[in-house]
Amino acid sequence: MRTYLVTGGAGFIGSNYIHYMFRKYGDSIRIINVDALTYAGNLENLKDVENQDNYTFVRADIRDREAVAQIFAENDIDRVVHFAAESHVDRSIRNPEIFVETNVLGTLVMLNAAKKAWELPDGTYQPDKRFLYVSTDEVYGSLEEGDTYFYETTPFAPHSPYSASKASGDMLTKAYWDTYKFPVNITSCSNNYGPYQFPEKLIPLIINNALQGKKLPVYGDGKNVRDWLYVDDHAKAIDMVQEKGRLGERYNIGGHNEKQNIEIVNIILETLQEMLPEGDPRKALVSKDLITYVEDRKGHDRRYAIAPDKIKEEIGWYPETMFKEGIRLTIQWFFEHEDWMKNVTSGDYQKYYEEMYQTK
Ligand code: NAD
Ligand code: DAU
Repeated sequence: MRTYLVTGGAGFIGSNYIHYMFRKYGDSIRIINVDALTYAGNLENLKDVENQDNYTFVRADIRDREAVAQIFAENDIDRVVHFAAESHVDRSIRNPEIFVETNVLGTLVMLNAAKKAWELPDGTYQPDKRFLYVSTDEVYGSLEEGDTYFYETTPFAPHSPYSASKASGDMLTKAYWDTYKFPVNITSCSNNYGPYQFPEKLIPLIINNALQGKKLPVYGDGKNVRDWLYVDDHAKAIDMVQEKGRLGERYNIGGHNEKQNIEIVNIILETLQEMLPEGDPRKALVSKDLITYVEDRKGHDRRYAIAPDKIKEEIGWYPETMFKEGIRLTIQWFFEHEDWMKNVTSGDYQKYYEEMYQTK
């Protein structure tokens, strides 16, 4: 039975990936989820798998060398899928240090532990072992007027402390291939959306606020562009890269779904109006009058857009979920999980939200 070590599995993409993998492989795989449970980690995301014999949760910090080494010593790990990170750009602007600690040093701890566990006396590695670093399109910086897309060959030009820290983890991972031939892959994905996304990110924040008749903060002129991908499509791509990707290679993952932020906000408002039944008191609250232009994010990247040609040609992956369908699935999920939203917004996030938007 193949054993996966997933870091950050209690977060948004990690928990969707774990669900995807169990749906696809059932009890033919085992997953160990290592997560420190920061503000963004939520075990409620994995309630339906927590009692499975082939799923184990370990609360550990990836910066903790001993704890990580122990996991490798006690388990024959075949695949590492490294999601754990500080993931929110706005938080990185306010507090960069933790981003370097987790995203750079934590990644180094993971690489060293896996290398030590898999290395043979002759310097090669046990067969069929793979380490995947979940990177981001933000490492490529920002596309400006006249630019086409981010390709795997686009030079790195990160701007925010978040993207700089992710680029460092990314380059360390590549360095382990270049230097030690340690078996890695790197995936650079565009913006994800879907169930279990923490409501500090644009799409769940707008859904949550709109349903409560709260202001919808749009940064700057609202015309920054992101390339949105439904999270299950990302999970599938990661699995396919680990199965079919060439070692040492980077693969871009994107939805070919570029939208300005203001378009996203309008689509959410229109879809909420369509989906809320007549007589639901929230229907009267959802309104374009809630849109509020606020001070821009510092160093705000203008446009991200991925060319997913390499992953399509080499591996056969392509985005399957149209945005119209994905946003409905996401909104439906939030309708059905009101308690989840109440729980995640009741504690520290509430404090963060007040501090973040008081000056905007
Ligand atoms: P998230 O913030 O929802 O989840 C991060 C998870 O990592 C949480 O469960 C948290 O508890 C855990 N974690 C944080 N620090 C840790 C530490 N020191 N030790 C152990 N666990 C720790 O993030 P996400 O949006 O699911 O993103 C997951 C990964 O995908 C990140 O590496 C991110 O850079 C990358 N990514 C995200 C997107 C996106 O649109 N969200 C797109 C491309 C790439
Ligand atoms: O591109 C991949 C990246 O996408 C990931 O690497 C990051 O982990 C993930 O957080 C995401 O980064 P963004 O900064 O693009 O996502 P966010 O949801 O924070 O913002 C999306 C856009 O919406 C961005 O242009 C800023 C804008 N925005 C965001 C918030 C939270 C607003 O206009 N208002 C808001 O309140």
